[in-house]
Amino acid sequence: MSTKTSKRLDRISEYVFSSLGKKVSEIENQTRRKVLNFGPGSPDIKPSKLYIDKFSEFIRDADAHLYPGYNAIDGFAEALINWYKKRFGVLLKSNELLPLLGAKDGISHLPLALLDEGDEVLVPDPGYPAFSDPAILVGAKPVFYNLREKDNFKINLEELKDLLSRKTKFIWVNFPSNPTGQVTTKEELSEIVKFAKKNNIIVVYDNAYSEITFDGYKSPSILEIKGAKEIAVEIGSFSKTFSFAGFRMGWIVGNKDIIGALAKTKSQMDSGLSIPLQRLGAYALTKTDEEWYKDMITNYKKRRNIIAKHLKELGLDFDLPRGSLYIWARIPEKEKNSWEFCMRLFKEKQILLTPGTAFGKNGNRYVRVSICVNIDKIGEYF
Ligand SMILES: Cc1ncc(COP(=O)(O)O)c(C=O)c1O
Repeated sequence: MSTKTSKRLDRISEYVFSSLGKKVSEIENQTRRKVLNFGPGSPDIKPSKLYIDKFSEFIRDADAHLYPGYNAIDGFAEALINWYKKRFGVLLKSNELLPLLGAKDGISHLPLALLDEGDEVLVPDPGYPAFSDPAILVGAKPVFYNLREKDNFKINLEELKDLLSRKTKFIWVNFPSNPTGQVTTKEELSEIVKFAKKNNIIVVYDNAYSEITFDGYKSPSILEIKGAKEIAVEIGSFSKTFSFAGFRMGWIVGNKDIIGALAKTKSQMDSGLSIPLQRLGAYALTKTDEEWYKDMITNYKKRRNIIAKHLKELGLDFDLPRGSLYIWARIPEKEKNSWEFCMRLFKEKQILLTPGTAFGKNGNRYVRVSICVNIDKIGEYF
């Protein structure tokens, strides 16, 4: 019997890192040599021992195995409220937050909560791939807005105006950006909030890299903007800040109606973030291991600088990112496109960079290079 999958599924393709991962396994099996893989942004630095020791205590708690319920447990809510107050000066109420099974949980389920068939959502190009396909799955339409080098990879609000229609429901905004590494300011966020209010659309701000910043830059929260809570939610992640990627932990904060709609959607999809993980999250936010955090940032920065030196030797052109885990680099003029450039490098040197087109058509002349990669043997590859 042939398996009949939904027509809906035919509208999307396999997640790009899943298909590139298969190419890596193939070539490693053929050559019996490891690929130097600058593809995925998977934090490889081990989490602080303090967190892991605490986690092993939390899983022994008498209630650890119980369903956690659909909202935050008290300790998690309190810790997140306190962290937002201390870190951003933002005051949250307990109905203005929800734990997520990773930021991607919120990103992939918000379209189900917010979009009807035929609705439109504004998506950055280049941008994190998960911003567009979940919208397509619910029958809505992603409308891509440009992040161009000539605009310093910032949002061009003049251009954005022309993309609005009566069907536009919300906009994805992401800084520090995956893939461009560009960061933002409070002033720019304020303009975005103003634009959204004027045009009656929601802003979903993905701040997953808020704590992965360099060279003195500090990432703001969109909720610092006065009145933002009327139209905005912000998504956060434990994956990058605490190197908990595989634990699948995140949060969403902001407008209570949007959060309520997401909670209702998720109540049909999962059964909440486990109690031990919520306790771990609360602990990490409250008793952050500052020394470990400083070491992590220093380590990423060191790698960023070493990788950058090698990329320059390949003729790539870029600014060093002040946030995120990626270098977004322009390929040399003589190259045909980013896909061919990456595939040649992959075959000749067994180095994998992600072709910029994985993040949208504007990535045609760019590659994304992850800095969370073990580079002890980088000299043997370049
Ligand atoms: C912009 C952005 N948002 C969200 C995520 C996913 O984060 P999480 O691991 O919390 O699902 C990523 C992961 O790479 C990302 O780049």
